[in-house]
Amino acid sequence: MFFVGGKVAIVTGGVQGIGLAIVKELLQNDAKGIAIFDIKADLGERVVEEINDKFGPGKVIFLNVDVRHRNEVECAMEKTVAHFKHLDIVVNNAGIFNDIEWEKSIKVNLVGYFINAYDFSSIFRPEHVMELY
Ligand SMILES: NC(=O)c1ccc[n+]([C@@H]2O[C@H](COP(=O)([O-])OP(=O)(O)OC[C@H]3O[C@@H](n4cnc5c(N)ncnc54)[C@H](O)[C@@H]3O)[C@@H](O)[C@H]2O)c1
Repeated sequence: MFFVGGKVAIVTGGVQGIGLAIVKELLQNDAKGIAIFDIKADLGERVVEEINDKFGPGKVIFLNVDVRHRNEVECAMEKTVAHFKHLDIVVNNAGIFNDIEWEKSIKVNLVGYFINAYDFSSIFRPEHVMELY
């Protein structure tokens, strides 16, 4: 694990599975706060309650974001910065595997990644350290 103490991260697709494990790992390593971007709002609210109980109030926020939609990502990144005052790390974890609806898979897995990467880079000035996974 890289040094994440005091850092603020976005984890896309973070309400379950690998994304949720990443959220917990970041907090166990003293991350300041995490914004979870996901489409599963019911699960998101439960996860936020569970994590804030375990790691302390206000450590995690949930934002209902579909990573395919640029306006949603932009708005949620702004809310993340307004809430935690800075943003250091974006973990592009949201993904699906659907070989029937393959166009949808490309939009989530590829377009979603680029939207997050582009918006993250546009928020920062060069002197900021950026970490993008
Ligand atoms: N589990 C594996 O063995 C495996 C292997 C290789 C790659 N991966 C990749 O790792 C990532 C996580 O895998 P997982 O097994 O935890 O998957 P998962 O299905 O358990 O979780 C994926 C999360 O992404 C969210 N998501 C899906 N579409 C979204 C969208 N449009 N906008 C925002 N959130 C969205 C889902 O709601 C869910 O919470 C995925 O990208 C997956 O493709 C997983």
